[in-house]
Amino acid sequence: MRISFAELKLPTSGVLVLLVDAEVRLSVSAKAVDKATKGALARALDAAKFAGKKGESLSVIAPQGREKLTVLLVGAGKAKDLDCLRAQEIGAQVGKALNAVSGSSATLVSEMFGARAGGPELAANLALGARLRSYSYDKYLTKSGGRARSDGIDRLQVMVKGARDARRRYGVLGAVADGVDVARDLVSEPSNVKSPKWMAAQCRKLTKLGVKVEVLGEAQMRKLGMNALLAVGQGSVRESQLVIMRWNGGGKDAKTVSFIGKGVTFDTGGISIKPAGGMEDMIWDMGGAGTVIGAMRAIAGRKAKANVIGVVGLVENMPDGNAQRPGDIVTTMSGQTVEVINTDAEGRLVLADALWYTQKRFKPDAMIDFATLTGAIMVALGREYAGLYASDEELAKNFVAASQDVGEKVWRMPLDEAYDLQINTPRADMKNVGPRWGGSITAAQFLQRYTNGVPWAHIDIAGVAWSDKEQPLMARGATGFAVRTLDQFVRNHYET
Ligand code: BES
Ligand code: MN
Ligand code: ZN
Repeated sequence: MRISFAELKLPTSGVLVLLVDAEVRLSVSAKAVDKATKGALARALDAAKFAGKKGESLSVIAPQGREKLTVLLVGAGKAKDLDCLRAQEIGAQVGKALNAVSGSSATLVSEMFGARAGGPELAANLALGARLRSYSYDKYLTKSGGRARSDGIDRLQVMVKGARDARRRYGVLGAVADGVDVARDLVSEPSNVKSPKWMAAQCRKLTKLGVKVEVLGEAQMRKLGMNALLAVGQGSVRESQLVIMRWNGGGKDAKTVSFIGKGVTFDTGGISIKPAGGMEDMIWDMGGAGTVIGAMRAIAGRKAKANVIGVVGLVENMPDGNAQRPGDIVTTMSGQTVEVINTDAEGRLVLADALWYTQKRFKPDAMIDFATLTGAIMVALGREYAGLYASDEELAKNFVAASQDVGEKVWRMPLDEAYDLQINTPRADMKNVGPRWGGSITAAQFLQRYTNGVPWAHIDIAGVAWSDKEQPLMARGATGFAVRTLDQFVRNHYET
């Protein structure tokens, strides 16, 4: 959805969206339209018992006096509860409602709550919500094959007193939404298209925004000793890739934060093959990489004054004559050896080398990795919260705070030496799976062995990278989880 801003001037045709508050009911604009239509809005609200609750909507089509107008009334809840996050949710409600209205553009009036909610900041947040919620992945819907692409509204003009200010604010928020959409597009892409090289090509597109992008192929990774990552990809005919993205907006003396993503473009489980039921979900096993690439897009898009490094390990986990076997022992880039008990515990093998590489080459002030790492995190937290593990209290606190600022749910999980001991094995320095219980924790303990003491956090997003149900700001499907948190985290702690 394309967003623009304008000063208030009520249109007499097209689609007009008006917010209705649970207490105030009709805004000044709504009253004007009501008057011009001989009370049609008030009558419709009354007849529908519309209470202005968040999530309610009602359309009034071609009312007498404004025959060319479709008025969409959207409930906004109590004005006094309104803040930026709420404004995003209300905007999302508008975006959702507009997906079902035919036409190409609509106008949303942001003035009903008086000075505060009429303000540019809230207008920009309404726009962000509408933009995020209107996303749909319709790339592979054809007119010929039945269901067509949605022909809902794709342009939204937001009318607000102080349009210039709102436009400036949305310049920043819109760049973040671009990042979220990049992550959602990547995660949604089917794996016949989405090879490691295809993913690397998508990363290269960030060059246009000033991101320095480097791509390592298998030969280079072999030289570096990244045998754990390479072992995962060795059963695939598609070449594994490691992509390094650098955004230097902060200048020489600024701190550097690094984001590392698991990018398994399809996870069959390898020789420890997964059962058929639900295996198609493994197209989103590159969700961690999607988060990192989306975050780089957001940060570069809004020209953040910060130094940020993104590293993604891109591999396909396939069973094949050349695939790794259970019982294999691989030597990671760190020099530590791993006995591969289960080839389906592949994400940690990829991240082990990506983490080691990142800290060794860049000596970052912090590393944060994202991975659809374990089914076990879903057993623990369901599909609502992502699991956070951290070696550093301050980093954990700051990450949680940033996630709360943008309304993404993250829950701290424990690290403990007692869990760490559970991945020891007589035949190598460690094995790649622990005992049955606490599978998400032992996976995190495994990763920690590759952080070399650098302050580190790990976010297991297996439960949240994809949503089977609608979310406040998102339609079903890929969520782009943590792109907004990362942007906020950088804003809070790394901008100079
Ligand atoms: N990619 C999966 C985890 C996953 C499961 C993500 C479901 C999203 C939805 C991961 O590579 C995996 O297979 N993990 C195994 C680990 C086990 C073999 C120790 C798991 O969780 O079952
Ligand atoms: Mn797996
Ligand atoms: Zn996986």
